[in-house]
Amino acid sequence: MMAADQALPGVPPSLSAKVVGSFAYLTVRDRLPTILTKVIDTIHRNKNKFFEEYGEEGIQAEKQTISLLSKLRNELQTDKPALELTDSLQDKESWNQYLHRLQGDQESVSWFKSPWLYMECYMYRRIQEALWLNPPISEYDVFNEGKTQSFFESQQAVMASCTYLEGINKNVEELSKSQLYEHFNKLLQVSLWGNKCDLSISAGQDNSQKASPIDSLDSLQPFILVNDSNMLWSTLMSAQRPRQSGKSTAGRVDIVLDNAGFELVTDLVLADFLVSSGLVHEVHFHGKCFPWFVSDVTANDFQWTIRQTMAANHKWMSKSGYRWQSYLKEGVWSYHDHPFWTQPHEFCDMAADAPDLYATLKRADLVLFKGDLNYRKLTGDREWDHTVGFDTALRGFGPAPLCSLRTLKANVQVGLQPGQGEKLTFQEPDWMTSGKYAVIQFYIPELEEQV
Ligand code: F6P
Ligand code: MG
Repeated sequence: MMAADQALPGVPPSLSAKVVGSFAYLTVRDRLPTILTKVIDTIHRNKNKFFEEYGEEGIQAEKQTISLLSKLRNELQTDKPALELTDSLQDKESWNQYLHRLQGDQESVSWFKSPWLYMECYMYRRIQEALWLNPPISEYDVFNEGKTQSFFESQQAVMASCTYLEGINKNVEELSKSQLYEHFNKLLQVSLWGNKCDLSISAGQDNSQKASPIDSLDSLQPFILVNDSNMLWSTLMSAQRPRQSGKSTAGRVDIVLDNAGFELVTDLVLADFLVSSGLVHEVHFHGKCFPWFVSDVTANDFQWTIRQTMAANHKWMSKSGYRWQSYLKEGVWSYHDHPFWTQPHEFCDMAADAPDLYATLKRADLVLFKGDLNYRKLTGDREWDHTVGFDTALRGFGPAPLCSLRTLKANVQVGLQPGQGEKLTFQEPDWMTSGKYAVIQFYIPELEEQV
């Protein structure tokens, strides 16, 4: 496998903090140390809790974890080389191998010189290492407080989304195809804009959804730079397979999740609609094995969100929560995590480096990739020209028809019309990082790639 920074014919270089003043540079210089400082504060603030749970051992673990994290912050700020991982987590070897791969290409792999995607992922893995080396607190989720708070702060928007969903579900069987299409589009866009609410871009500051998401859709329409939703719809339609009985069997959708809080609720609402409308018979959710990029969904966040929704003191919200729980029990929905999602690879490496995951995704009729980081990994986080096709940037990745639902928070964007990127840059220099713009960008692999 090629390492991310290797010069490849026709493939542009990786985004990197070595470009002084770039978004990658500012992230490594400012945002990542801020996130680390917050992590350290959170652990320190929870000292008494650790003492109550684990006694003196908890206090020692708190101190040692903070000392490892302070060292990490110092390595980052002084551009020290990336070090091998030393814990015993199952992905340690593949992380270390990836580092060696990168080291094969350059003298040293370090924060301000190497691919931004690698270094940013590495920071989250090192946070995990610091905790893992201190057993009584190794399972502690340093980002849990922020994720929980963001869920509660978006309660109005969550209620509005569940109310809308229950309105559809009431008479879903009587809806015409065009009505279904209209609802599909709305819920797809709610899930799209739900991606605005991540806590990594805001370095952990409140970024929750306050207004009703359905009401804002019309005004947000002009900010969708690429909208392939009609192709998604056709894909779902062609996934309906006729059965002998004359009835049709619907397909399978996989959703590669991004953030907990409001965004996760929007994904669950979309998944519910896909099932209740009969468009799809199975939804597979993919989350992270450990806390990642501040607000990403872990198994714990997934279950917690469903339990909170069930327990809500709001009729439609709790009704939705109970149905989600039953989808999970019946196997109509399932949740999976795979270590590949918390590794630094571009997705074009998946077939070789995580063939089991690639094979899983191949079974889907459609894979939805939520959020910015997934887009960066789909396109390799490289300096692509904006007019390069999405298919080119995917560099052979295509286990199934796929679609990115992403608000732009990093400076990589492909598949635009000639001149579109230049015009945006002229009007709003930060259009790629402000989260104001979004894409619904679809790709269907050639048939022989899918088999
Ligand atoms: O730098 C901003 C950032 O941390 C990006 O690295 C990352 O792509 C994004 O925030 C996270 O966004 P999302 O939650 O949409 O993947
Ligand atoms: Mg995220």
